[in-house]
Amino acid sequence: MSQLTVRSPKFHIDETVPFQWQPANPSFGLFGNVFTFLAIAFERYIVSATRQAEPYFTNPVVAEEADLFVRQEAQHARAHRAHAKAMIAGYPGLEGTYAAANAAYDELLEREDVEFHLAYVACLEATFTPLFKMVLDHRRQLFEGSDERVGTMLLWHFVEEIEHRSSALVIHHDVTPDRSYRVRKAPKVLEHVSRIYKLVLAGFEEHVPIEDRLISTQLVSPSGLYLSELRNRIGLRGGFGNYPSMLGHVPGRDLGTMLWRETKGQMPRHDPAHEPLPAWAERWHEAFNSGADVTTYEGVGALT
Ligand SMILES: [Fe+2]
Ligand SMILES: [Fe+2]
Repeated sequence: MSQLTVRSPKFHIDETVPFQWQPANPSFGLFGNVFTFLAIAFERYIVSATRQAEPYFTNPVVAEEADLFVRQEAQHARAHRAHAKAMIAGYPGLEGTYAAANAAYDELLEREDVEFHLAYVACLEATFTPLFKMVLDHRRQLFEGSDERVGTMLLWHFVEEIEHRSSALVIHHDVTPDRSYRVRKAPKVLEHVSRIYKLVLAGFEEHVPIEDRLISTQLVSPSGLYLSELRNRIGLRGGFGNYPSMLGHVPGRDLGTMLWRETKGQMPRHDPAHEPLPAWAERWHEAFNSGADVTTYEGVGALT
């Protein structure tokens, strides 16, 4: 029996949310905004792809897991839509960026077959637990000083990504017993997602003035993120003025562990059930289960 719970907290995101919702760490603020655009497009794709795969499921337990998995993802997309809507209201040019990100996934859905879609979803979902463990383990420095309307929505999403970390692989393995198929497709998947990530960043660069972003979008491009951390660690500040690099406070050892786990996540025998988890995720669940307000930092104990 699946253990997933579908939740739909009502986050208070409206058009008064500033584009740069994390002025204390603007790189993380921009990353969160890209994540919103990407999440909506990717989660629509997950829902369509998984529904397409339904006739091929061989196991009723997998069918139940898939149903709860897509319902969680649909809730994530719903919450992120309010955030995207707020950004587009402030910067109408972003409507085109939003449409282009969605169109890229619609085109992928059209072009590839259902096995590829399930491999795509499983590859990307496998990257989330190591990434969000690192984020949640170091959450205070990432979220302190930010607008909690956006911050608590992201924390909820990250916690649920960790909760359903096995779903996409279970679904994939049920339809495609060849475990090396997903591994073979991983480079193509990562190339696609990185292209859409850059497309969204280019939209922010074009349509949102730097006074509102606070930093250049270059600093959160895939290579920019890497170079910023490297510069920060060898003591060069160039490029991001008075602002910290996004993960400047995260010990190198923790970043190394994350990268190692990201690599392991793409191996054929990867089983997310055994991955180390952030202790704080349990605290979020306790807060939710006790009826605490998960739309405030205080309610979920985000900054302690
Ligand atoms: Fe999600
Ligand atoms: Fe997910």
